[in-house]
Amino acid sequence: MSIFHRKSAHVQVVLGTQWGDEGKGKIVDLLSDQADVVARYQGGPNAGHTVEFGNDKFVLHQIPTGILRDRVQCYIGNGLVIHPESLLEEIQTLETKGVEVVRRLFISPNAHLILPHHRLIDRASEEAIFGDKIGTTGRGIGPAYADKANRTGVRIGDLFENPGWEQKVTQVVENKNRILETIYQTESVVPSKVIETLNLFRSKIETCIADIAWKLKEDIQNGKKIIIEGAQGTLLDIDFGTYPFVTSSNTTVGGLCTGLGIGPRSIGTILGVVKAYTTRVGNGPFPTELKGDLGERMRIVGGEFGATTGRPRRCGWFDAVVVRYAIQINGMDVLAMTKLDVLDQFKEIHICVGYRYNGKSMDHFPSCVNTLDRVEPVYETISGWMESIATVRRYRDLPRQAKQYLRRIEELARKPVKILSVGPKRESTILL
Ligand code: GDP
Ligand code: IMO
Ligand code: MG
Repeated sequence: MSIFHRKSAHVQVVLGTQWGDEGKGKIVDLLSDQADVVARYQGGPNAGHTVEFGNDKFVLHQIPTGILRDRVQCYIGNGLVIHPESLLEEIQTLETKGVEVVRRLFISPNAHLILPHHRLIDRASEEAIFGDKIGTTGRGIGPAYADKANRTGVRIGDLFENPGWEQKVTQVVENKNRILETIYQTESVVPSKVIETLNLFRSKIETCIADIAWKLKEDIQNGKKIIIEGAQGTLLDIDFGTYPFVTSSNTTVGGLCTGLGIGPRSIGTILGVVKAYTTRVGNGPFPTELKGDLGERMRIVGGEFGATTGRPRRCGWFDAVVVRYAIQINGMDVLAMTKLDVLDQFKEIHICVGYRYNGKSMDHFPSCVNTLDRVEPVYETISGWMESIATVRRYRDLPRQAKQYLRRIEELARKPVKILSVGPKRESTILL
């Protein structure tokens, strides 16, 4: 996919512009046919990135999507939180399907571990919330990042560099058990079982441990083509998203400097992935949400069920305020639009071009989540194309109204759409 590679810039970034599940997996997979390295910098098994080609469908959670391209090396940066059992399972699933993993996967020793108590605390603390729950994936993400910030986490490197790691883990687990038993009154964790799993994990990934920041420095010097794969989306960023209904990492561009050890000047093109409409899993404000039949239709046609938890995703119209905000926060240069085919059978399509709040119009994203809960979307309506575009491969063959929709979104976003996706498979793509 040559449009993505400018001669001067070798580090290309792919990020979500909405609330996740924009189709980042499909876009990274497309672009990685020419890449040498694909790296993840944040998140963990809360992500679910789907790639389809031939008769195969893969859902990547912790391993970068580039693993599906033979010549690509994949890096897991220090900014991730890794669940050992799930990673082992993910490796196993890929290996069963004939994908070579261990030789091509490199993991930072500074990435933190998600241990069983993190998952138990994640679930128990959600249950304990009175009122609006976050609706987390239950994968232990928040508690693992909390321990990292609290300096009580266990890092992957501990398993290799710290001869007393078994004792350290036992102590950590015993401390957390006290919280689980007394505060949450829930099951506790058996330390010896955790150590058993960690030993298995350790032996499987021993050869994968590497200084990722150093490797990237060398790769950049050697002119390698690197793709950075974001997980979640801009509106789930812990600082810039709809807090507290967010994930616990910086999903936006700044996170990649701290999550991989790359300086900002090395960053080349930043591509934002936009779904042709909007979805969100979990709770929190969503101005263009469609709660009735239309939303249900979008969910069914778009197959909008979580790639990680299977939960139904909330669906709504495209929100230009959200996407403009993502472009602003991340400094995105270009866009890839996915799932335009899902709108094939909608007679009328609405685009949110701004908000009204307290009787006044508002065209930028509010900095306070409570405001977002009360804004009223202002819509423009365009006629639908009412025909299938799934087999279209050239821009000029798109129906007039589909072109109009795309051009209007480019106008509102003030950025060009360079890739248009009209189906889940690799080949269902139009380059613009
Ligand atoms: P990610 O988390 O951003 O990688 O996105 P997910 O994989 O969670 O969700 C995107 C879903 O849409 C997946 O099931 C993809 O296979 C599918 N998909 C991606 N692009 C398209 C497209 O253009 N059209 C359709 N119909 N499905 C798509
Ligand atoms: P990808 O990478 C969509 C959401 C959860 C919840 C909130 C916090 O596939 O786009 P967490 O488990 O992270 O503490 O949950 O964030 N969430 C996602 N929503 N796509 C994702 O990842 C998500 N990862 C987390 O639903 O609302
Ligand atoms: Mg997903």
